[in-house]
Amino acid sequence: MEKKIAVLPGDGIGPEVTEAAVKVLEVIGRRFGHIFKFEHGAIGGEAVDRYQNPLPEETVAICEASDAILLGAVGGPKWDQNPAELRPEKGLLAIRKRFDLFANLRPVSAVPSLLHASPLKEEVAKEVDLLIVRELTSGLYFGEPSRHTDKSGIDTLLYTREEIERIVEKAFELARLRRGKVASVDKANVLETSKLWRKIVDEKKKSYPDIEVEHMLVDSTAMKLITNPAAFDVILTENMFGDILSDEASVITGSLGVLPSASVRSDGFGLYEPVHGTAPEIAGQGLANPAAAILSAAMMLKYSFGMETEAAAIEKAVNTVFEDGHFTGDLATEGTRALSTADWTAKVVDELDLQFVSNSIMYSYV
Ligand code: IPM
Ligand code: MN
Repeated sequence: MEKKIAVLPGDGIGPEVTEAAVKVLEVIGRRFGHIFKFEHGAIGGEAVDRYQNPLPEETVAICEASDAILLGAVGGPKWDQNPAELRPEKGLLAIRKRFDLFANLRPVSAVPSLLHASPLKEEVAKEVDLLIVRELTSGLYFGEPSRHTDKSGIDTLLYTREEIERIVEKAFELARLRRGKVASVDKANVLETSKLWRKIVDEKKKSYPDIEVEHMLVDSTAMKLITNPAAFDVILTENMFGDILSDEASVITGSLGVLPSASVRSDGFGLYEPVHGTAPEIAGQGLANPAAAILSAAMMLKYSFGMETEAAAIEKAVNTVFEDGHFTGDLATEGTRALSTADWTAKVVDELDLQFVSNSIMYSYV
């Protein structure tokens, strides 16, 4: 297959981790006979500096001509004082909206070799395997009016029926491929949008009799994510709650540095990015953990290109490297040597090469 991939490295550690992911995709391309063509574009702070626009039209054009987008991260102290329109984050919100990437998928599963770094007790964290399905193009992030003066500020929480219906359907469909359980998270004891959300979930679940649905309030969900995270399968929620809960869930497995995400629309087009931010304090030093970006590339292969085997090969390689005790600084324990971004990536590449060699030996025996 031939696929065009827009690469938007962004700020901070974004360029380092996307470079690692591109390297891994190149290996996959070579091994499985695909041609991946990469085109780079500016987004976030870098784009503000170069184009006075966090999402320049040049970048939009590159994305429009591509089959999927691979993004690093945006933001940093350099642009913190910028006016709203020139904030790096605005570029991320704009690209999500522009490409209608309404479904944000954030999987969190325990990796035995990383549990030492979890803030939770091992027996609480070890069975965790959940997927957050976050609505990404509406709610408080996009509602108008949205402004402030010195005396007051306003944001608007607005959801239309269509916006809720499509994300609910997406969550139910995804739950079908997993353990069939959906926790729909809202604040229906207070918010009107949540009451509508609950109503639509109840309507939709009639068409999915095989799915077990539970309504949960966001505050108690936050608590249960710490006390019993293994109880969750799919967590379905709106934009703001999903933002908060996904950061909370992300540390359960040990490091924010290993969590990938996909932001997709109905036709399979998607943007793939690590859940972590730009980590400006370690940027440019080759210290970043590229696992989340590499696993985001695996999600791209799976969700946008239908390349399940290739995605599984990457996941397996990453897990093996962890199991063999190779970590970047965020996960290294005392007494073990922390690898650089490039060295850790090289381990993943070696692992992919090994997989390929052992597979071809297997094939030659049959
Ligand atoms: C995320 C980030 C973004 C969000 C920021 C950078 C705008 O925190 O992807 O979770 O709030 O959605
Ligand atoms: Mn966030």
